[in-house]
Amino acid sequence: MILRDMTANDIDAVLRIERQVHAHPWTRGNFSDALAVGYLCKVAMLDGGMLGYAVLMRGVDDAELLDIGIAARHQRQGWGRKLLEAMLALAREPGKQRAVLEVRAGNVAARNFYRNAGFVEIGLRKDYYRAQNACEDAILMGREL
Ligand SMILES: CC(C)(COP(=O)(O)OP(=O)(O)OC[C@H]1O[C@@H](n2cnc3c(N)ncnc32)[C@H](O)[C@@H]1OP(=O)(O)O)[C@@H](O)C(=O)NCCC(=O)NCCS
Repeated sequence: MILRDMTANDIDAVLRIERQVHAHPWTRGNFSDALAVGYLCKVAMLDGGMLGYAVLMRGVDDAELLDIGIAARHQRQGWGRKLLEAMLALAREPGKQRAVLEVRAGNVAARNFYRNAGFVEIGLRKDYYRAQNACEDAILMGREL
């Protein structure tokens, strides 16, 4: 797996995966904004094709993972864990203690994935994700960087 910076030219391929694997996908605008504000945006390549991607926001004393996706046909082979650890390693710096993230309560696979990577639940935002006919809680998770 090769990790490289995401560029605007990658967004089409990133969106193809995002729409395939996420029940509530980010939009093109979300990814271009993430690039424009300077979040850590990486794509993971395997044999010339895109395996996945991740976006992380570096805060003053913590790092927040905002999005991660692995193409469906490559899931459950350890790539997500490798990508997650690589992102956290890039965010690690003196004084930065914690990695945090928010996950939808109903996204059991992702909650399991993060738990497997050492994240624990540290909070809950009731009805945080609001849609027309349903609300969903956000679970906050954290671990040492
Ligand atoms: C979450 C995601 C990134 C995991 O990527 P992945 O490459 O499949 O994960 P890994 O193979 O590294 O899995 C590591 C561990 O996480 C857990 N896990 C991963 N996917 C899981 C699933 N669908 N169901 C239950 N546990 C799962 C398992 O414990 C797994 O270890 P195991 O395969 O030895 O049992 C991927 O499923 C994905 O892209 N999901 C859609 C997008 C999403 O929900 N992103 C997170 C919210 S932003």
